[in-house]
Parts: sequence; C-alpha cells; structure tokens
Amino acid sequence: MSDLNAIDRYLQQTQPSQLELLNRLLRIPSISADPAYSGSVREAADTLVEIFRELGLQAELIETDGPPLVYAETPAVPGRPVVLVYGHYDVQPPDPLELWETPPFEPTIRDGKIYARGATDDKGQMLTHVLSVSAWLATGQSLPVQIKFLIEGEEEVGSEQLEAYLQRPEAADKLACDVVVISDSTQYGPDQPAITYGLRGIAYFEIHCFGPNQDLHSGSFGGAVANPATQLCRLLSQMIDDSGRIQIPGFYDAVRPLEESERQNWARLEFDDAEFAAQIGVEELFGEAGYTTLERRWARPTFDIHGLWGGYAGEGGKTIITARAGAKFSFRLVPDQTPEQVAEQVRAFVDSHRPPGVRLELIDLHGGPGVVVDPNSPFIAAAQEAITAAFGKPAVLIREGGSIPIVASFVQRLGADVLLLGWGQDDDGAHSPNEKLNLEDFYRGTRASSRLWDTLARVASSA
Ligand code: BES
Ligand code: ZN
Repeated sequence: MSDLNAIDRYLQQTQPSQLELLNRLLRIPSISADPAYSGSVREAADTLVEIFRELGLQAELIETDGPPLVYAETPAVPGRPVVLVYGHYDVQPPDPLELWETPPFEPTIRDGKIYARGATDDKGQMLTHVLSVSAWLATGQSLPVQIKFLIEGEEEVGSEQLEAYLQRPEAADKLACDVVVISDSTQYGPDQPAITYGLRGIAYFEIHCFGPNQDLHSGSFGGAVANPATQLCRLLSQMIDDSGRIQIPGFYDAVRPLEESERQNWARLEFDDAEFAAQIGVEELFGEAGYTTLERRWARPTFDIHGLWGGYAGEGGKTIITARAGAKFSFRLVPDQTPEQVAEQVRAFVDSHRPPGVRLELIDLHGGPGVVVDPNSPFIAAAQEAITAAFGKPAVLIREGGSIPIVASFVQRLGADVLLLGWGQDDDGAHSPNEKLNLEDFYRGTRASSRLWDTLARVASSA
C-alpha cells in the first residue's frame, strides 16, 4: 500500500531543497538556438544526470550529433503501464536583455514567483516529475509504475536529433511505453488547471533576399534597381490577406475542421476578449474571421514573421538601398497538415511570386505536425484524479496553440498515448523577458505528479 500522506508531508518539508535543484538548472544558459552556448547546453545535460543520480535513479547521456539526450529510469513494474516523461533542458534566447528586471540566468524570487529564462519553459515544469519520483523513493516506497525520463536539449529548435534517435532500432525498446507525460504547457488560468489534448504544429523558414553588391545611395540609384528590403516585404505581405487568411495555394486543403462539440465546449470556457487584449497590451485582437479567439489560437493555422532585417535601423535617417534583407517566419499548423507539405507549398509560392530584380534563398529550418489525442482516454481520467487531488478542482480540457514538435512522433513511433499536463500560466512570459513560474504552481504540479504515478498504475497496461 502506498502512503500518499507521507509523500505529501515529504514534499511539503523539502521545498527549500526542491528550489535549490531548480536554481541549479536555471543558472545554466542552455540556449539551443545559439552555437556559442553549446557548452552550457551540455552542462545542463550533465547537471541533470547528476541530479537524477543524487536522487537515486539510474541515469545516462545518450549522445547524438547535437546536444545529448538525458535518459533515466526507475525499476520495471510488470503488469503496470510504463510511463515516459518527456521534457526539455534547453531554453530560448533571453533577448532583449535590457527588458529583464533581474538577469535571466540569475534566478530571483519576487512575490512568490521565480524569475529566470526556462523557469516555466521547461526546466521548472519538467523538474516537478523528477521531484515527485524522488519523493516516492525518499519515503521508502516503490513506484507503482515504471517511469522512464527522456529530457532533450533541442526542443526549442525543432528536436531534429531526437527525431533521428527515434529512428534508431534500439530506441523502440528503450523508450517503449504506454503513455508519454509532458509538462511543457499552461493551465487555463491562475486557479484553473487544464489537461491539453491538442497542440498545433509548425513549419519554420528563413528567407534571404539579395540585391546590389553593396548598399547604394537611394537618390543616385533609386529608380534603377530593386530594393531587397522592399521586395522582401512585398513578397511576405502577399502570404496573408487583410483579414488574416493565408494566401498560399492549397494551404487550407488538409486542415481538419473544428468539431461542433469542441466549439460548444470551448464556448463554455470563461474567456474575455477585452481582458485578454488588456493583458497583452493591445487595443484590439486580430485574426481570421469566423472563429473565436480560442478557436483561432488552438485550432486554426496562422502565419507570423518573427524577425526582419535589412538596411539601416540606427539613430536618425540613412538613405540607402540595402544590399540584402532577410526574414524568419513560420506557420502554425493544425491536424492534418504536414510541415513537409506546407514547405512544398511555400516554396512553390515563393517561386511563382519571385519579385523582380532580386535573388531569393528560402531555407526550410524545421517543423513538426500538430496533434490531437483522444480526450476520453483512461490516462486522461487518471490525470484528472491526480490533478483534482493536488489543485482542489478538476482540470478543464483544452487545446493549445504552441508546438512540441516531437509529440506526433511519440504517438506514431511508440504507439503511446500522450498526457499534456501544463503547470504554467499564460502570463509566465515563456519566450519573453522576465519569464517566471509561480512557486505555488511548481509545488502543486509536483504534488499532482506524485499522485499521477498512483492513479496511472490503475489503468490497464497494454503489455
Ligand atoms: N512549451 C512550449 C510549447 C507550448 C507553448 C505548448 C505554449 C503549449 C502552449 C515549447 O517549449 C515551445 O515553445 N515550442 C516551440 C517549438 C518550435 C520552436 C519548434 C514553439 O511552440 O514555438
Ligand atoms: Zn518554448
């Protein structure tokens, strides 16, 4: 018989050391997008292995052609489901640095929240599962299910190496599981936990636009040559119309329409457009006509430019025709679109809309398809029970607009169910300055996780 009260007490009493472990991870600038930080990315992996071992788990690094995967496991429990906990130890770049109130890699607690890059996305959330497993072990109880941990260092740049690892013959055995548990998303609100049954996919591109061999005086040369910055803006702006509809031919062909029942369920969720607009500091919301804000964020595809460069952006004016310009942009995808198909469509669009007088280079950076899992699975019912015990109220079922590119491969290659249990909040500032995690969410997420192993053990195993 497991003693859940002993685990609750243990988790309550060891909060300071839990925070210490979180700090240890948050101090490492494991920025996967920037090759200058590859040493820190590896340091984060090494630190995680140390942490697992200190807590009494078997752990190892799995080398790849990029950042290593961290793998750890608890003993097998025959006849019970096998759980794979997935998370990521890499983080997004912290820029713009000047907007941080305290430095991004010096975790600081203010008002019950811990501020640092990676606090919510995903070091803090991922750690809840490590801590909950350690609470079972430290209170002398054997875990009722086998738990495997797979923590990667490339999620924020598309999980290319993990994708390659999943194709290795040994991966299927090593990662064999019934359900993948992921905490890398958000609750529905400050006091409203959620279980997420769908994520959007993504197709990410970079484009370079080349003109004259050097910047030119726009008076002397303007009128004689095409300006790469102008031509690039013209091209990109044709990808979307005034009302937010994407103009790439064929783009919507594979889009799975929303279920009427989903629309009804989401309409019952409390959501206020004006409040949402105020929270993010805009006067009005914008998006595809005919859909509510939640529908547009969770279940409709979108187009966004993430970065745009070219020419002069310093003080005062400078009259040049820039030699080159460039942009980063992506499409969020929904089932049943595929990033490969969208990449083809985007390439065809660029080819057929090639602006005159410049040379273009389109680079397909990375992508991953969206996913929707069965909201009525027994695993979701088990998670519901664990969450209700820890948060004092049941979770609502939602989809989210963010992407975790590897999830679709877990479903496909491992044949596993997926449980997306976000402990974060919408206003945690993931990818933004002053990212944070509410300590209360960290602690109750850990408690919910500790209950989850117990409730999952009661789900019939496929083995
Ligand atoms: N934690 C996010 C994914 C997420 C965000 C899920 C919000 C649900 C709600 C994850 O770390 C992330 O940001 N992923 C990237 C993936 C991309 C770079 C391939 C994303 O969604 O931009
Ligand atoms: Zn992220």
